Amino acid sequence: MLTGAIAAAFAKQASFCRLFDAPFTALVCEAAALAFDESSAMGRAVIAWPGEAFADALMMRVTGGFHALVRSGAVPVLTALYPPAPLPDVRVLADALRAVLADPALDAALLPWLAGPPQTNEVMRSAVLMPGMMVIAAMTGLPLRLFELGASAGLNLNMDRFAYDLGGVAAGDAASAVRITPVWTGPAPPDLSVQVLERRGVDINPLDVADPATVTRLVAFVWPDQPGRIARAEAAIAIARSRPPPERGDAAAFAQAQVAVHPGSTAVVYHSIAHQYFPPETKARLAAHMGRAGATATAQAPLAWLRYEMDDASVADLPTLRLTLWRGQGEESQLLARAHPHGSFVQWQ
Ligand SMILES: C[S@@+](CC[C@H](N)C(=O)[O-])C[C@H]1O[C@@H](n2cnc3c(N)ncnc32)[C@H](O)[C@@H]1O
Repeated sequence: MLTGAIAAAFAKQASFCRLFDAPFTALVCEAAALAFDESSAMGRAVIAWPGEAFADALMMRVTGGFHALVRSGAVPVLTALYPPAPLPDVRVLADALRAVLADPALDAALLPWLAGPPQTNEVMRSAVLMPGMMVIAAMTGLPLRLFELGASAGLNLNMDRFAYDLGGVAAGDAASAVRITPVWTGPAPPDLSVQVLERRGVDINPLDVADPATVTRLVAFVWPDQPGRIARAEAAIAIARSRPPPERGDAAAFAQAQVAVHPGSTAVVYHSIAHQYFPPETKARLAAHMGRAGATATAQAPLAWLRYEMDDASVADLPTLRLTLWRGQGEESQLLARAHPHGSFVQWQ
């Protein structure tokens, strides 16, 4: 059983999961805290964790590992307790985790999950980004060229290929297997279709969905008690397989090298829950480049910068969707929405 600061970190993660409607994942955190001890390699590694467990997302590495084992079908005893089964008793779940950890092969299979930070790509964020694109298309009357910074696996680069209901406005591809229906408040977005001429993304660590191990990791980090998110991720991965992964590189270097205005289309630089991870120098270089490129924009060659980001470090605050548009009239900035961090609700302004 974990004790002290590491036990507190597992308890804090459990509270966080409950707050975000993942009571089963909360239970896995609590059961893992009971099950880990010096008898397994996983237990020893968690107990001796050298960093700051919460900041390192240690608990999500652990829950991702167990979820991947369950999805692989290797541990029926654990699978029987996972959703859609009813919430188990925490001691029953802890016993099942102990049985997994007591099996040397399963213990060894779990260990690599501690090696790197969880990297996700949340498809529901398109619920927030897509109406922003519709505003840009309405304001400029031009097709779009998309440049996503911090694109992860590039799932949201295909946002126009998903089916939406945005406050009663249908958008995207109605036949798509990816259905995006956020809880919407406020006025509806402009009702028009968005034409995408080009789409490119960059990430410091791009994920290639052609690699089965990458897909396993991507889906395992989605909380198991959120089947809708898992289904959307799988459907969006199927769409993304038809395209190369995002490029590898720094967001600002990519923007400087690739983003310029062109007559007949709007260049759109966008990012979601990524800016906070960019180093200060990247943030400064990116802002400087956008200002410089914006100064060259015209009504026929506009530049847009769409940001779905946490505005400050306070976790109580909702992320905002902000747009800055350059089209030869100076810098036009507006707040478009506040939204859930995963896009499940949108408060349109
Ligand atoms: C929390 S994830 C968000 C991913 C995606 N935008 C989404 O909404 O699902 C943040 C992403 O930013 C990427 N990232 C961090 N620093 C970066 C940098 N300097 N340049 C480009 N990408 C970066 C990470 O690798 C990660 O994929």
